[in-house]
Amino acid sequence: HQNAATIFIIFGGAGDLSWRKLFPALYSLYRSNWLPENFAIVAADRKSMNLEEYREHIRNGVETFAPQYDSSLWSCFSEKIESYLIADLSEAAFYESLKHTLEQIGTKWETKPNWIFYLAISPSLIKTVVSQIGIAQLFLAPADSRIVVEKPYGHDLKSANELDQCLGRVFKESQIFRIDHYLGKETVQNILALRFANAWWEPIWDSRYIDHVQITVAEEVGVELRGEYYEHAGALRDMVQNHMLQLLCLIAMEPPVSFDSDEIRNKKVDVLHAVRKIIPDEVHQIAVRGQYGRGWIKGKEVVAYREEPGVKSDSSTETFAAIKLFIDNWRWQNVPFYLRTGKRLAKRVTQIVVTLKPIPHQAFPARALDQWLPNRMILNIQPEESISLVFHAKIPGPVIRLSPVNLQFKYQEAFKKGSPEAYETLLRDVIIGDGTLFMRADQAQAAWSIVDPILEFWENTPPIDFPNYPAGSWGPESAQVLIAKDGKSWYEGGY
Ligand code: BG6
Repeated sequence: HQNAATIFIIFGGAGDLSWRKLFPALYSLYRSNWLPENFAIVAADRKSMNLEEYREHIRNGVETFAPQYDSSLWSCFSEKIESYLIADLSEAAFYESLKHTLEQIGTKWETKPNWIFYLAISPSLIKTVVSQIGIAQLFLAPADSRIVVEKPYGHDLKSANELDQCLGRVFKESQIFRIDHYLGKETVQNILALRFANAWWEPIWDSRYIDHVQITVAEEVGVELRGEYYEHAGALRDMVQNHMLQLLCLIAMEPPVSFDSDEIRNKKVDVLHAVRKIIPDEVHQIAVRGQYGRGWIKGKEVVAYREEPGVKSDSSTETFAAIKLFIDNWRWQNVPFYLRTGKRLAKRVTQIVVTLKPIPHQAFPARALDQWLPNRMILNIQPEESISLVFHAKIPGPVIRLSPVNLQFKYQEAFKKGSPEAYETLLRDVIIGDGTLFMRADQAQAAWSIVDPILEFWENTPPIDFPNYPAGSWGPESAQVLIAKDGKSWYEGGY
């Protein structure tokens, strides 16, 4: 598996994803010797360029985004980009010429290659491309074939099901790789190691000891140049349905029996199936939405969402969402999970905070407790990569006074090396055919079933208070109320 001859075919090879993410990741894999010896890249896009122009365009992206660019290494790598095809992806003729190109490349090698099709294209084109791959029988690669599908994976449960059916007519489930780039992040994968390679936490990892869990994915950036896409998505589709529910699964899943990819995914999907169904009448109690107005980010004034390019001036798309979920199983009965995400928030941070219940009996005198805080575990996913435990210690001195202290593990200090980019990990997994970190159809469906009722309710009751938070804040007031009603508050740094 590790070194199987491979042709990597990128539909949308001249697009932004290829330029920023895919090629820098492939180049880094090459630099670390992680690519198979016999490896070729074929890119297709409608933009008119010759191979040399294409390579130069890609070189520029690699130089900008790959951590260690080296021009002599680039020249060797660039030869792996064997062909750039100017394509009309809806034309059957293109798939015939693609097939010819792929067969030609394969003849150079002694072993039969796998063909990996990467769809870095607009969602509206996916069905067309998949059917054409079917008609041209490209899925019958000399060895194995795989297809990689980017998010957004559908728009709701119904459209995700349609996509599954379309893919399922051509590929088996084990050949379909639905990307969720959060799963490739080192700190996200480490949640599994933290929980299941240690004896410390599992005994208290349930409703007897855990009071609640908060998952925050806060961004400083606005919608940048993706206004048109984002108008149809919003924070719930863009972040919650995929990245955040995947984080929830890793925090809440049962211990796996093995690291077999289906075993891990079975345990994760169980969590999604156990999430308490949201009924329309209660959406306003458990979910809030927001949209940023003008404000300040790092001392710079920024425009409101409604003023961004590609956005309607009366848009009701949410750029912030916070929801409260329950997981109805033995382990998590009545433990609230609070999820929030937004653009143009006060700072960029992805973080999971697990707060323990109070101690059963307080023996220390009240005067010792003026700084009392609950025990917490804080998993910093990004930009800081660390895990902290907050507990109480005695302040040195003749009188008994307690203070919270912080025991911290920092990746950078412990391992003295940076984490690979998420796409490096994920592309390597696609190449070796390991689906563990990819969404299976049932996971994507279960995740849509959770958010669909909220989306529907929001669509039917347009917001009347947008924009309701200034850029650079922590989101709308209603997000504070959501959690304050339960006598808790969002964790905002410090201990
Ligand atoms: C993407 C979303 O999936 O994730 C973007 O479409 C978002 O809107 C991005 O900005 C965040 O990813 P990261 O890795 O920067 O946290």
